[in-house]
Amino acid sequence: MSGLKLGRRVRAWAPGRVNLIGDHTDYTGGLVLPMAIDLGTRVEGTSGGSLVWLTSAVDDLPAEVAGVVSQVRPEEGFDGSVSTTLPVGAGLSSSAALEVALALALGFEGTPLELAQACQAAEHLASGVPCGIMDQLTSAAGVEGHALLIDCHELTVEPIPLPPDLSVVVLNPGESRKLAHSAYADRRHACNRIELVTGPLREASLADLAKLDDPVLMRRGRHVITENERVRELAEALSRGDGPAAGEAMWASHVSLRDDYEVSTPTLDALVEALRETPGVHGARLTGAGFGGCVVALTEPGAIPWASPVTASAGAHLER
Ligand code: GLA
Repeated sequence: MSGLKLGRRVRAWAPGRVNLIGDHTDYTGGLVLPMAIDLGTRVEGTSGGSLVWLTSAVDDLPAEVAGVVSQVRPEEGFDGSVSTTLPVGAGLSSSAALEVALALALGFEGTPLELAQACQAAEHLASGVPCGIMDQLTSAAGVEGHALLIDCHELTVEPIPLPPDLSVVVLNPGESRKLAHSAYADRRHACNRIELVTGPLREASLADLAKLDDPVLMRRGRHVITENERVRELAEALSRGDGPAAGEAMWASHVSLRDDYEVSTPTLDALVEALRETPGVHGARLTGAGFGGCVVALTEPGAIPWASPVTASAGAHLER
């Protein structure tokens, strides 16, 4: 035999996600209810050699690739390309989808949780943004036809079936998210300061917030505590197939993100208000980190004829 080693062809797919409810709760160990969607990112190529080479039209690729390579530490190199159906920077976790697909393509082996944790660490390295686990875990652990009730402290994932007579629609007004990185870190820092006084926010009650002497911190804490409660309400409403009750939790989440957490924008507020007047829309809210990005709506099928629904999809996998 000669020493010639033929490379293996590899194709890995990872979905983006939309969060139905539970924003800015994951990094204090709270609850979230996202779903993986039918838009995502594919990494395909040939393994072998000692270098990782990727071509792509996606922004910021070098930082994310370096982050993933440093976490996965692949045994061999890879020569391939990245393609995506996700709008980049729109709050549908295009970064997480890239990280998860690339980690699989580079031969990562482990549970979906381990995959998500490696990619979360890669994201911290690549962007410097101290993100929680939601995006990477949803991309890694998605279940077709289900939202995922994730306890970000216990790191448990409970699939919640989506009733067939409810549609999930994502609306992207196309705003750029310039402030998102610094403001995200700022919100996370505020939660750390609150927890020094109240203890873990996931266990705190509204009464505990009276110990804070800063009205801004009180509002930030109130968002997190009430949002965790709304995640439970929405999960229960979905389990009963109760669209109107699910929608109530979503409207209230938007108001809390707008007024208490202050991560909305006038464009997102106007879109949510317009949806409130739209027949057949049970509820809508900004989704993800905010400061731009998308609105998610829960509707009767066809209620927003100009936007197509997203489908709850399986998590990341290698393709044949
Ligand atoms: C971003 C982060 C997530 C989460 C959301 C807000 O998407 O990556 O970890 O904190 O914002 O819910």
